[in-house]
Amino acid sequence: MTYDVAAVRAQFPALAEGAAHFDAPGGSLVPEPVGAAVAGTLTAAIANRNEFTAAERHAEAVVRECRSALADLLGADPAGVVFGRNMTQLTYDTARTLAKAWGPGDEVVVSRLDHDANVRPWVQAAAATGATVRWADFDPETGELEPARVAAAVLSDRTRLVAVMAASNLIGTRPDIPAIADLAHAAGALLYVDGVHYAAHVSVDVGALGADFFVCSPYKVLGPHCGVLAARPDLLERLRPDKLLPATDAVPERYELGTLPYELMAGCTAAGWARPAASASASRPTWTPRTWPACSTPSRTWWAAPTASPVPAIHR
Ligand SMILES: Cc1ncc(COP(=O)(O)O)c(C=O)c1O
Repeated sequence: MTYDVAAVRAQFPALAEGAAHFDAPGGSLVPEPVGAAVAGTLTAAIANRNEFTAAERHAEAVVRECRSALADLLGADPAGVVFGRNMTQLTYDTARTLAKAWGPGDEVVVSRLDHDANVRPWVQAAAATGATVRWADFDPETGELEPARVAAAVLSDRTRLVAVMAASNLIGTRPDIPAIADLAHAAGALLYVDGVHYAAHVSVDVGALGADFFVCSPYKVLGPHCGVLAARPDLLERLRPDKLLPATDAVPERYELGTLPYELMAGCTAAGWARPAASASASRPTWTPRTWPACSTPSRTWWAAPTASPVPAIHR
């Protein structure tokens, strides 16, 4: 396959500025179809999600397509894709939700390899509940975070959660996540994986990694500024994030506070289309305004009263 560099470069308006960009932490440059999808969705008729008017169906379709595109990117179930402002916000929210089941005697494992966005939310959630934080060290000679070190140093039957990154943004090492997942699960703990750096370099398969939660930032992978968390829908069903009373109890919606940023979601879908790896010669879909199919009978209600049923604790 020939890789037409000029054709790929032409998709990135920012390159016309003439500067070379090496600012990976700031995110990737954004291809033109992503910008067009964001602007087009923002200025189109769009309303709250529902099935009665074209504007409502537009919003509904944008959300559905975005979950599907992100699930594709991550090898995840669209019903377990939670959209958020960025990885940091999603991790704080998840930490607060999981910590509802923690107390003194429970333990949380974080690593010294990790970005603070996958450390501080857990440290602060543990402090708020009296849980203990255990630190997994990486080998200073190699920069590797060996699964055996995690197991020997910090895992126990009191461990509730292990938080670790799949690739280091600082030194590039990649912990063996499937092995750490096996160890965490054997100890009865959940595994929360920071995939922000990893997802920008590796084809992700959340199931194969064994992550209970996998979180990353589409703005590092050609997308708009936002974050995404993938988890098994049945796990999301067992947790109770804080939310407004009239907001839906459905999963994954109950994790997404307030109105979703539809334009950013449309940008994420377009970023999937625009990935250069797909093939430089393949015709690139362009974003066009759409009309949404008519639907006479609403099939579900977005507004739902909270259930009264007790929530099972997230212990082993
Ligand atoms: C490895 C890693 N994790 C987490 C983050 C935080 O991501 P966000 O800006 O989406 O909160 C970053 C940001 O650069 C990162 O590099």
